[in-house]
Amino acid sequence: MQENIHPIHHRLLSRAEREARLGQRSVVVWMTGLSGSGKSTLAAALERRLFDQGYCAQVLDGDNIRSGLNANLGFSEQDRRENIRRIAEVAKLFLNSGLIVICSFISPLRSMRQMARQIIGPEDFLEIFVRAPVEVCEERDVKGLYAKARRGEIKQFTGIDAPYEEPQNPFCTLDTASLSVDEAVELLLQRLKKRL
Ligand code: ADX
Repeated sequence: MQENIHPIHHRLLSRAEREARLGQRSVVVWMTGLSGSGKSTLAAALERRLFDQGYCAQVLDGDNIRSGLNANLGFSEQDRRENIRRIAEVAKLFLNSGLIVICSFISPLRSMRQMARQIIGPEDFLEIFVRAPVEVCEERDVKGLYAKARRGEIKQFTGIDAPYEEPQNPFCTLDTASLSVDEAVELLLQRLKKRL
């Protein structure tokens, strides 16, 4: 019962104190894009680059979170929304601990990303569009899931028989069909640096 819950946020260390200790400003870098667009690869590469430069960053990734915290969720629109809601809440906790949070989730609908933006706070939510045409993602098919979706073995697969709505005004767009991993991360770092 919500009325019997008494949060103690005000008694805990502040985000500002934690940021000062870590010597960085925390933020959520939210990567959205099709399966196979390169989100996880870029998230991991960005985390490594930031770490090597003395920052503290943490990746939250779809396949990881879906093996643990969100193992009870599927891919209906309702479940994806709940997936994103929980992730946004977790990202907010990390944000308040002073970390740079790199979220890598398809998050296919604008309304889902809007919800995440609201939970996290618009000023701390940077939307990154990891863009690759569905044909390119299908061609790569790193996990073999597009082939399964085409054979009808996976239903509601994003880009095949479930929708993906492109961001309208992302903080940054990374075209992974034309950029190398290093180029894409470099581009993103340049944009991010002003904010950290
Ligand atoms: S989201 O739509 O709810 O944001 P999320 O990013 O957590 O998705 O998980 C996507 C990952 O789940 C994909 O990279 C893929 O490995 C796997 N997956 C399994 N089934 C599906 C499906 N029907 N649609 C998309 N991805 C799927």
